[in-house]
Amino acid sequence: MKIETIKCIFSGLAYPYIPVLTIVNRRCDMVKPVGPLMIEHRLIERMISVMDNEMKRLEKGGEPDPAFIETAVGFIRNYADRCHHGKEEDILFRDLKSVDMREHDDKVMKELIVEHEWARDTTGKLVKAKEDYVRGVDGAVDRIIKMMGELVTFYPQHIEKEDKDFFPASMQYLDEQEEQEMLEEEYEFDKNFIHVLYKDIVEDAENRFK
Ligand SMILES: [Fe+2]
Ligand SMILES: [Fe+2]
Repeated sequence: MKIETIKCIFSGLAYPYIPVLTIVNRRCDMVKPVGPLMIEHRLIERMISVMDNEMKRLEKGGEPDPAFIETAVGFIRNYADRCHHGKEEDILFRDLKSVDMREHDDKVMKELIVEHEWARDTTGKLVKAKEDYVRGVDGAVDRIIKMMGELVTFYPQHIEKEDKDFFPASMQYLDEQEEQEMLEEEYEFDKNFIHVLYKDIVEDAENRFK
């Protein structure tokens, strides 16, 4: 897809949290680097919504579905964390660390980094609870419900903090040239991501089944 096509798509989208003008500049001819990240938030919200439904089913006494948990965890780890948090931490936050930001913005960025760590840790606990459930360990279902509930509560709050607060604020520190370079780096990251992901999958398979 050409960048020109992507610009058209972005300019036509309606966002629930902030006006589209905060994603594209006023001449509507340039995508802000936070634009792709906000698009990704919408997909994360959809999976979190499915997890919420599944958690409520378990709260009513339903049996956990290990295959669903593996799917949800795979999405969180690969898409929400490696691909999405990866671009936030390794591109956006990386560049802003060398900027003299307002105290509030600096504080929020540090909170977001800690929250990413928390999400990784909690996702790991959900995997452990699922494995314990498969092995028949007592209390595993309660831990699955607890960890799913924590992730379902966490992600909308984290996303709102970025969409409404940090992302708009962060764009004030970049000039147009820096925005364009950051955007190109994000596209490059995404272009390479599928190859990095499947290389890791093959290497993991080789290690497990040699
Ligand atoms: Fe984030
Ligand atoms: Fe995010």
